[in-house]
Amino acid sequence: MLGFQPPAIGDEEIEAVAETLRSGWLTTGPRAAELERRFAEYVQAEHVLAVASGTAALHLALLAVGVGPGDEVITTPITWPATANVIVHAGATPVFADVRDSDLNIDPDQVAALVTEKTKAIVPVDLAGQPADLDPLLAHGIPIVEDAAHAAESEYRGRKIGSIAEATCFSLYATKNIAAGEGGLISTNDSAIAEAIQTLRLMRRGDGSLYDIVVPGYKANLSDVLAAIALVQLDKVERHGEIRRRQFAMYDESVAELDGIEPLARDPRDTHAHHLYIVRIDAERAGGTRDEYQRLLAEENIATSIHFLPVHELTAYRELLPDQPPLPVAERAAAEILSLPLSPAHSDEDIADAIAALGRVHTSLTR
Ligand SMILES: Cc1ncc(COP(=O)(O)O)c(C=O)c1O
Repeated sequence: MLGFQPPAIGDEEIEAVAETLRSGWLTTGPRAAELERRFAEYVQAEHVLAVASGTAALHLALLAVGVGPGDEVITTPITWPATANVIVHAGATPVFADVRDSDLNIDPDQVAALVTEKTKAIVPVDLAGQPADLDPLLAHGIPIVEDAAHAAESEYRGRKIGSIAEATCFSLYATKNIAAGEGGLISTNDSAIAEAIQTLRLMRRGDGSLYDIVVPGYKANLSDVLAAIALVQLDKVERHGEIRRRQFAMYDESVAELDGIEPLARDPRDTHAHHLYIVRIDAERAGGTRDEYQRLLAEENIATSIHFLPVHELTAYRELLPDQPPLPVAERAAAEILSLPLSPAHSDEDIADAIAALGRVHTSLTR
């Protein structure tokens, strides 16, 4: 089976872990601090805080901008459920705005129609590595907590993702462009937000007494063992990015020949992180549904995935938000999207195999 997104881990990461284990310091320490410093440089932000996961990054960032019970937070339905889960964890209500048909990122016009005096934050997602359209979102003057789990290398209109929103949240999960297995990074230019996250991440000791805390913290810090992996992955991010770009170009060229199969739009004004290659399959023209394509590709030993099923249609959210109105663009896209294998661990031959299999499936279904 050709893996969907195998991690690209080499001897350097293995050596970095071994060195960390030999150093005698396993938990948050010098390597986590170095990762924060180096990532801040990379995304051109004032502060970076390393945390236990992308989910924890989003959770702590929401709390740090003041989201709490009674508040509403506007977000996209086309995301990993964690994006919405943390809004619930903060005691607030997720409000789903429909996405744009072109790139399946949150639609700023839909957001504008949903802003109320209760809206405490907006959480856009940079799906697949294409930045959300941030300018019209920032214009509301409401804190933006950006979910940049897919967007480590992205730029929006020439500015690094991580340097724009009130808080930007990255993931170091096993499949991400900078992969440590687990982990997260929050960037911000606001020192009050950075300080609040620092307090919540562990717990802030009180002054004076031997043993006291002033906030019941979340124990969401990142271990040095994982930080050591992330540091090597950060060194490799541009080199890996070149491989991702080449794989995108190979797919672009071949998919252009297949009637009814189209990649999501990428805005030429932005820098894409090439995290996921997502196509939409128009069942009418492509001769089969996404599900048929996925099944037939699996029979060809090609693993694929779906990013993402609309969160408002998942059981927990159907129960939480029984009056949720339909989100037609997201719902239609959900039946059509398919993510193809992509990873710096794959060779050009691997991607050529995936392309050949997709071609055979297309021919068999459109014949
Ligand atoms: C869009 C998006 N947001 C948030 C997350 C959560 O990150 P983590 O798995 O590091 O908690 C992920 C992926 O895992 C994701 O893809």
